[in-house]
Amino acid sequence: MRKLAAGNWKMNGTSAELAEVSALIAAQAKPGCEMLLCPPATLLARMADIAAGSALMVGGQDCHAKTAGAHTGDISADMLKDAGATHVILGHSERRADHGETDIAVRAKATAALAAGLTAIVCVGETEAQRDAGRTLDVIGTQLAGSLPAQMTGAADSLVIAYEPVWAIGTGRTPTLDEVAEVHAFIRTTLTTRFGEVAKAMRLLYGGSVKASNAADIFAVPHVNGALVGGASLKASDFGPIVAALAAS
Ligand code: 13P
Repeated sequence: MRKLAAGNWKMNGTSAELAEVSALIAAQAKPGCEMLLCPPATLLARMADIAAGSALMVGGQDCHAKTAGAHTGDISADMLKDAGATHVILGHSERRADHGETDIAVRAKATAALAAGLTAIVCVGETEAQRDAGRTLDVIGTQLAGSLPAQMTGAADSLVIAYEPVWAIGTGRTPTLDEVAEVHAFIRTTLTTRFGEVAKAMRLLYGGSVKASNAADIFAVPHVNGALVGGASLKASDFGPIVAALAAS
């Protein structure tokens, strides 16, 4: 399966930061794995123009479940595609926390994204309190059960799961490699039970304080097929080495 290095710029970046995109493309002309940046919606079309013809793909950070209509401030999956996106991140813990997104809402968005021909990157992850209470796998299991589309309509690689422990995001803290391995194996088993053999070809990403210095160790963990990177995706000089570590893994 083709591994995926994905960057989530979150609510960061204006025109000036587009220079990082050209630098990343120049440094990773043939990255050896899939390479994706998900900028804020305001930069999506311009980033897609810069990335055209290169190995870099661009994606959105959210979409609405409907294709069009009276939903002020929202963006549909078709609109993301029209702007040049190939992927969309859905159900990120920051959207679950900031906007009250439920598993049911995330499922509707993921279904819409697949219908529009986008690759859906569905995020799951436990809080620190949930991990401390020994509930990590329960929480992930519930999120997977509720957030994923009822059926896989497209190719296996059009559904990607990102495991992002909430307490590891932006904190510099990461789970142990054994903890990452346990959750990723659990996700693979859960997907296989649900979708059958096709689940073996679905990419599972780890996210949460991934940086150049820990990337190779994380990428060596079984069932880790890439990363979803926040802070370290903002600069080509930080993201480039992570992409290289994934390509070499
Ligand atoms: P950091 O890499 O900044 O911890 O963020 C991870 C993340 O939330 C990516 O979606």
